[in-house]
Amino acid sequence: MLIHDTIASLRAVRSKAGRVALIPTMGNLHDGHIALMKQARQHADTVIATIFVNRLQFRPGEDFEKYPRTFQADCDRLTAAGVDHLFAPTEGEMYPQPQGYHVHPPAAQSDILDGEFRPGHFVGVATVVMKLFQIAQPDVALFGKKDFQQLMIIRNMVNELNLPIEIVAGETIRAADGLALSSRNGYLTVGERKEAPKLFETLTKTAEKIHSGNRDFPQLERDCIDFLQARNWVPDYVAIRKKSDLQLPTAHDAGLVVLAAARLGSTRLIDNLEV
Ligand code: PAJ
Repeated sequence: MLIHDTIASLRAVRSKAGRVALIPTMGNLHDGHIALMKQARQHADTVIATIFVNRLQFRPGEDFEKYPRTFQADCDRLTAAGVDHLFAPTEGEMYPQPQGYHVHPPAAQSDILDGEFRPGHFVGVATVVMKLFQIAQPDVALFGKKDFQQLMIIRNMVNELNLPIEIVAGETIRAADGLALSSRNGYLTVGERKEAPKLFETLTKTAEKIHSGNRDFPQLERDCIDFLQARNWVPDYVAIRKKSDLQLPTAHDAGLVVLAAARLGSTRLIDNLEV
């Protein structure tokens, strides 16, 4: 695997690369990331991963400084997964001056759910992903369903701004006990790690209730929140939404997703399950 820390070096690869797949990450790679790398191979001749902890998408007081940085282990995993190129720029390479131009997703998509609790987060995500798209000029880019709202926003950005890039979604990869893999799981204490699968458990139960005909979505959401609070979680939201645009469903809508974000101790976990 070739490692590039400058835009010029990555761009030099582009002309001989054939069909290019891009997988943006913030590093500390786990099996969820690696599944995207392997899936990418089915769509492209050349697979490019990126590792960049993007300050722009973190709020003051969030975990930008303590976000796990495990560069050598990440390189080993990417090499083993058959990734061709890694783009791992410095902050100075990505943001040589403070970023003045930003991509602002519409509020209806970016100020809800995670955007409500992390104001500005999706501006930071959309802006860095747009920059990575311009730098690597991929034919296809892969994103995980684990970050369902992020995936929707990037899909819509690509459509509305006519970017010639196919967006491919990867299924959420989970630990054996159901916990969605996440770089932030490493923040959990041993006790919290044992409790953490309860988030997916309550989403699963909710999905089952919807399947069996319960359409009282506000009550189902409240039941999840009560369940989590009783176990000492601090939920930000539990929301049953339409998959297509994450807006509120009517009682007759099909194609739903249950999404949740909740704090366990000092760690904020998110998860979702399609119904
Ligand atoms: P990061 O959290 O590192 O995730 C990189 C990619 O891996 C995202 O597309 C995410 O949805 C996917 N992913 C994470 N956990 C997963 C899991 N358990 N199963 C499947 N896919 C999973 O998301 C970001 O970085 C950043 O916001 C980024 C898009 C790189 C922009 O900075």
